[in-house]
Amino acid sequence: MCGIIAVLNKDNGANDITNVIIEALERLEYRGYDSSGIAYLDSINKTHRIRSVGRIEKLSNEVKSYALDKKAIVGIGHTRWATHGVVSVKNAHPHKTDGISIAHNGIIENYKELSSQFNINLESDTDSEVISQLIAKFMEDDLNFEESFKKTVSLLRGTYGIVAICEEEPNILIGAKKGSPLAIGYSVDQIYIASDAIALSSLSENVIYLQEGDIVVCKNNKYTIYDKDFKEVAREITNNIVSMKDITKCGLEDYMLKEIHEEPNVLLKTFENFENPVDIKKYKSLYLIACGTSHYAGLLAKYWIEDISGILVNVEIASEFRYRNPVLDKDSLYIFISQSGETIDTLCAMRNVIDRGFDTLSIVNVENSSIIRESKYKIRTHAGMEIGVASTKAFISQALTLLLLILEKNKIPTHKIAESMQSVIDMSDFFEDMAQKIRNSRTIIYMGRGTSYPISLEGALKMKEITYVSSEGCPAGEIKHGPIALIDTDVYAVILAPHDRYYEKTISNAQEIIARNGRILTIGSGRIQNHDSIEINNTGDIGNPFVLTTAVHMLAYYTAKSKGLDVDKPRNLAKSVTVE
Ligand code: M6R
Repeated sequence: MCGIIAVLNKDNGANDITNVIIEALERLEYRGYDSSGIAYLDSINKTHRIRSVGRIEKLSNEVKSYALDKKAIVGIGHTRWATHGVVSVKNAHPHKTDGISIAHNGIIENYKELSSQFNINLESDTDSEVISQLIAKFMEDDLNFEESFKKTVSLLRGTYGIVAICEEEPNILIGAKKGSPLAIGYSVDQIYIASDAIALSSLSENVIYLQEGDIVVCKNNKYTIYDKDFKEVAREITNNIVSMKDITKCGLEDYMLKEIHEEPNVLLKTFENFENPVDIKKYKSLYLIACGTSHYAGLLAKYWIEDISGILVNVEIASEFRYRNPVLDKDSLYIFISQSGETIDTLCAMRNVIDRGFDTLSIVNVENSSIIRESKYKIRTHAGMEIGVASTKAFISQALTLLLLILEKNKIPTHKIAESMQSVIDMSDFFEDMAQKIRNSRTIIYMGRGTSYPISLEGALKMKEITYVSSEGCPAGEIKHGPIALIDTDVYAVILAPHDRYYEKTISNAQEIIARNGRILTIGSGRIQNHDSIEINNTGDIGNPFVLTTAVHMLAYYTAKSKGLDVDKPRNLAKSVTVE
């Protein structure tokens, strides 16, 4: 959540860095986008700060119209997803105290204690401002910028990715990381610190990821990294694998649509690249632990794994698992599923398991993320960069990866499945028409049995995330235990009914909805007279969930479009949930 970029010109270079910051913020916008800001020092060491509520485009226009008579030589930028304090200019980052400007991702849990201990009156309602206040205070006590920064960081409890600049020492840029990602990049002219490699694409060919507790000090044309004990350390330099293709929409209207279009290919690529690092059959049971869409991939895999292998699978929501004091078994494998690899609840749940000495496997899409780095066994999912805030193609790669843990490759007809997914994508006209019919529903209920049940949850999550229409997923057999009370003419039911062993029972549940004047869309097999339906090619218990997933993603996308909404940046959400 939130994005950070910081830029320092080498050798006091004369390049104006405001454009570099704004362009990087545009690439980071998917991480949080309720407000944004930039602070920089000009060549006479004066701080300029521009903050704005709304999208980066607004900030960009304000920066363009700002009368800058001197070049910006060092600066920081931030795009915010509010935690403490409402969305307002006052609460937008960077925060500034005297000559110190900072941007912060994460949550400072002890900001109130620190404020009263050091007699600080915060101007904003944020936890973050305490950082600039403390640095400024310690500089008054005659510490230099670097010493004050280090002292401040040593007092913070919570999570942070921080960058800071200072008028008194304008040739220094400092950063620190704990629980919130931060990476360094460099070019011939500049040094960068960013919360995400995507910010550095087109700026730096290499990235250096900071580790927990690291502090980086950039000065004299180089960066120096210190570990949590302030000991100088070297961290690995890796290639920045984020390419321009990853961050363009490839001629389509939105990232989400591009990413849905990629789903068949992601299936094939995940299949080709899969390498199993661990024999799961040696474990008595499995725990699949994740949040949101990744959790639904786990629920789907439970059906497959228990059916195919007879191994018991427990599926857990990470935010509950980490605080519940669960009964854990040392003979189990604990599998953590995450697109971003930074979801704080999943990461902390994994750390709890690691602390107890049990085996962990992570299934993660983003290279070098915290979850993949810290787990014992690791699998990268190769879905490619996912920028749309609603997760789509990552689900496909997670589900297939989990299946591949248990089923031989030759039993998975990937090409046939990918073709069926493609046929769904080719039916965009149908989804556009359907969107007109369901867009004004009071509620949309997704129902399915067996493997279609987790897909009903995924369909409902996607629909509510991007259309703001109340939606819920439900096992079709459960409908009459409560949800059927919702049914009237303003409710649409999306029935996931592929031609599987549950087909007839699912259709009977659909009839119960019709009998109560509910409206029906069937996705799967056959058609119910006078109701909408879309046929998918039957690819069996293994293939149907993938094809249904593409269908529910298309339905959510076109419904949001028909309402004129920003599908890539739905309100209140952010791509990577690094706060609790
Ligand atoms: O990066 P992760 O897979 O750990 O993220 C988990 C959820 O935050 C994520 O799936 C979220 O629910 C998406 N907005 C779903 O579209």
